[in-house]
Amino acid sequence: MFVSAKGMYYTTDEGQEVLDGVSGMWCVNAGHGREPITEAIRAQAGQMDYATAFQMGHPLAFELATRLTTLLPGDLDHVFFANSGSEAVDTALKIALAYHRARGEGTRTRFIGRERGYHGVGFGGTAVGGIVNNRKQFGNMLGGVDHLPHTHNLEKNAFSRGQPTWGAELADDLEKLVALHDASTIAAVIVEPMAGSTGVLSPTGWLSRPAARDLHPARYPADFR
Ligand SMILES: Cc1ncc(COP(=O)(O)O)c(C=O)c1O
Repeated sequence: MFVSAKGMYYTTDEGQEVLDGVSGMWCVNAGHGREPITEAIRAQAGQMDYATAFQMGHPLAFELATRLTTLLPGDLDHVFFANSGSEAVDTALKIALAYHRARGEGTRTRFIGRERGYHGVGFGGTAVGGIVNNRKQFGNMLGGVDHLPHTHNLEKNAFSRGQPTWGAELADDLEKLVALHDASTIAAVIVEPMAGSTGVLSPTGWLSRPAARDLHPARYPADFR
């Protein structure tokens, strides 16, 4: 039983310190019990603990969104806050559907994930994820989902300096899925650049492939990312 935490150590109910080698589970990266963070939480709870987000806003949410956009690549300049990664993934899948529908391409409903991928515990995230035990337990609750191959290959990737060059050809499977279903049926592809939940899997050369929209610009609207 852990009863307290400070910096990178937990303390058990028997007073033993335990190194938190995984930062909570990658969510306490700034360390436990950091005073500036604790103080900010305390101050905000004292000023306003909660306000409905329906038709309302708070200046700090806009300030954070603005700061985030300076970190995002390219011209990504919109932020949609969610309560967890699982909620964010399900929301992203829904945004993809709504985006295509709004453009008059409501046939784009198919999602493509990757084997061994993890995208959270929601129905959408579990369906596009590639974790066998989750899929075994819950079935395929979202229709129209395909998976690309994962990038783990010890023989090809072992002892690489930097990112392995092997694996770029795995991206060709996306072309095969497009040929099988037609691009007009595909809403989105979702992959983790660096997979982490079924072992830390290198992206290999996979994500360095030119984006499909660059290879086949005619298939994509001008504002498609
Ligand atoms: C790539 C990815 N997507 C989604 C999730 C789910 O996030 P959460 O646990 O906050 O629901 C995780 C969590 O590790 C993740 O690594």
